[in-house]
Amino acid sequence: MERLQKVIANSGYTSRRKAEELIEANHVTVNGEIVNTLGFKVSDKDIICIDGNMIAKNNIKEYYLLNKPREVICSVEDDKGRKTVVDLISTNSRIYPVGRLDYDTTGLIILTNDGDLANILMHPKRRIYKTYIAKINGILNEDDFKKMRKEILIDDRKLLIDNVKVRKIDKIKNTSLVEVTIHEGRNHIVRKLFEKLGYDVMKLTRSKFAFLTDDGLKSGEYRELSTKEVKLLYSLK
Ligand code: URA
Repeated sequence: MERLQKVIANSGYTSRRKAEELIEANHVTVNGEIVNTLGFKVSDKDIICIDGNMIAKNNIKEYYLLNKPREVICSVEDDKGRKTVVDLISTNSRIYPVGRLDYDTTGLIILTNDGDLANILMHPKRRIYKTYIAKINGILNEDDFKKMRKEILIDDRKLLIDNVKVRKIDKIKNTSLVEVTIHEGRNHIVRKLFEKLGYDVMKLTRSKFAFLTDDGLKSGEYRELSTKEVKLLYSLK
C-alpha cells in the first residue's frame, strides 16, 4: 500500500506537492469515490482518476538532463502557448522539470517522471549545489565581492553563497562574468542577489547541477542520465 499522493507523483502526472493540492481540492477519486485526505493509502488494484482521467501507473522511470535555451518556460504546459522544456524532449511519458529556471535563464535542468527523486532534489533541506554564471552590468567591486562571501539578506531571508569567483572583467564594455554556487532553490534568487548589490543580470546560465555539468551539451540538447548518475542523485538524500 502506498500513499495516494506518492502514487500520483510516481505516475509522472505531476509533483507530489501538486498531487496533494489536487487531492485536497477534491479532484481525485479512488474507485469512483472522491478522496480528499492526504494519508489515504492505495494498492495496485485501485483505480485512481484525476478529474475523471485514469492515471497511468507508470513504473518505467525516465531521467533527462537538458541544456535549456532562452525563451523556453520551465513547466509542462503554458497557457500563453510558449515553448516548454517538456516540448524539447522526445518522449511519451509525463515528465516534468525538477525545479525551475527563468524564461530567460539558460542551462541545466533535470526532467523526470520520478516523483521520489524530484522530491529529494527539491527538498529545501537538501544541500544540492548549483553553479550559475551571471553576466552583470558593471565591474564587481571588492566590497560587493566580500559581501557575497558572507550571508546576504534577500526578501528578509538569509542567502548563503557557497562559492563565488569573478571569471572575467571587461572594462571597455563595463561588464563582469561572475560564477556563483548556492544550494538554494528560491525563484529568481541569483537575479535578486545581484539586484540587491546594485547590478543587473544581463545573462544567466546554470552550468552545474550537483555533480552534473553541461559538458558536451549544446543549448537545446539533452541526454538521458545513466543509472549510475541516478543512483548518485538519490544518494544526495
Ligand atoms: N536564479 C535566478 O535568478 N534565475 C534562475 O533561473 C535560476 C536561479
